[in-house]
Amino acid sequence: MPAYTHLAAVTLYAGVPERACVIGISFIHERKRVLALLMLCQVNDYGEIPMANTKTLNDLFLDTLKDIYFAEKQILKALPKMARASQSEEGKAGFTQHREETQGQIERLEQVFELIDKPARGKTCEAIQGIIAEGEEIIEEFKGSPALDAGLISSAQAVEHYEIARYGTLIEWATQLGLKDVVPLLQQNLSEEEATDKKLTALAKASANAKGKRAA
Ligand SMILES: [Fe+2]
Repeated sequence: MPAYTHLAAVTLYAGVPERACVIGISFIHERKRVLALLMLCQVNDYGEIPMANTKTLNDLFLDTLKDIYFAEKQILKALPKMARASQSEEGKAGFTQHREETQGQIERLEQVFELIDKPARGKTCEAIQGIIAEGEEIIEEFKGSPALDAGLISSAQAVEHYEIARYGTLIEWATQLGLKDVVPLLQQNLSEEEATDKKLTALAKASANAKGKRAA
């Protein structure tokens, strides 16, 4: 028995389009019965009923890959400034070495984009911009102070921890998505970030923190 459905929709704009509602009245004639259904739906800025969000873990993976690609490129630019600002030779050498590693990490990320057949593009990462801005603030405010290197190391570790979090997530998602060739590339980046983080801790404990305690 075919059902006959008639849908009448009225869009009510209450001044603010995003708060507008659509009231749909559906009459279903079936076996001489009439059912009236009232539906209240949120509509978008264009007065349309939004479609269901169909984004998947693949989309999330790509977005996060773009995020870390953007972040690595920002870090590449920030590291020479940190090397110049560092008062110790070990600090300068450490930041310079990590700049070279970062270049390699960017190339690995470009290989990942290629493997998933997407163009290598970054997506603005406000988190890394904020961490780098804080580092620049330390360089500015602690210039000439014995605590400068301790501050630089703390900024660099904040960067490393951000990267470690991102790579850990990407590796897990790549595994879930069956992207077998992608995992080792991301894993290599993660291992380098973890090793850098350990070196920074050693550097801080060996000298920078102790120097920072001295009066200027
Ligand atoms: Fe990195």
